[in-house]
Amino acid sequence: MRVLVTAASRHGSTWGIATAIAGTLQDSGIDVDLLVPDDVMTLEDYDGVVIGSAVYAGHWQAEARRLVDRYHDVLSGMPVWLFSSGPLSDVPETDDIPAEQPIDDHWAPDDLPMLFEQTLAREHRVFPGRLDTADVGIPTRVLMRLLHQQMGDHRPWTAIRAWANEIAAELTHARVPVEA
Ligand SMILES: Cc1cc2nc3c(=O)[nH]c(=O)nc-3n(C[C@H](O)[C@H](O)[C@H](O)COP(=O)(O)O)c2cc1C
Repeated sequence: MRVLVTAASRHGSTWGIATAIAGTLQDSGIDVDLLVPDDVMTLEDYDGVVIGSAVYAGHWQAEARRLVDRYHDVLSGMPVWLFSSGPLSDVPETDDIPAEQPIDDHWAPDDLPMLFEQTLAREHRVFPGRLDTADVGIPTRVLMRLLHQQMGDHRPWTAIRAWANEIAAELTHARVPVEA
């Protein structure tokens, strides 16, 4: 069983989430390729794909949307899971989100209807993100404050790993042979 985990990230935070998902899948005995979207050359040989992106101004990063555009024919015929990372406000502190209560899709990016249409994904999750002071200039920091966005790392590792475990369970259960 081989799974592709791919994510578009501008400042590394979403890549960190993708890395955690890949690690959890590997711990479940699944072979995982972890690639940035532009490095994906084929989807052959994969039993499932997890695609994620940071959200900026309500949208997935172009690199992740390009991947979906390029491979939508194949993606719509295989198990696909999507995740977005971004919210920095009105989110509980890191690790406080119970795994069974992921944030509602009210935080979802504007691209989501199109992403679902193109991939027929099984599920989409939104995970809070991270914004370091060092990553942005003063104007962006002022803008973030005006928008009530909180600098810092809000990524909910427990919920992220729990979701990856759910994906692993779905993939591995799907392959259990039915006894006659
Ligand atoms: C200019 C700017 C715009 C942003 N717009 C959104 C947004 O529309 N929705 C959202 O959920 N997060 C938004 N964010 C938060 C980022 O998505 C968040 O910091 C994310 O974790 C960054 O991921 P990355 O490090 O992988 O690039 C924005 C951040 C910045 C700096």
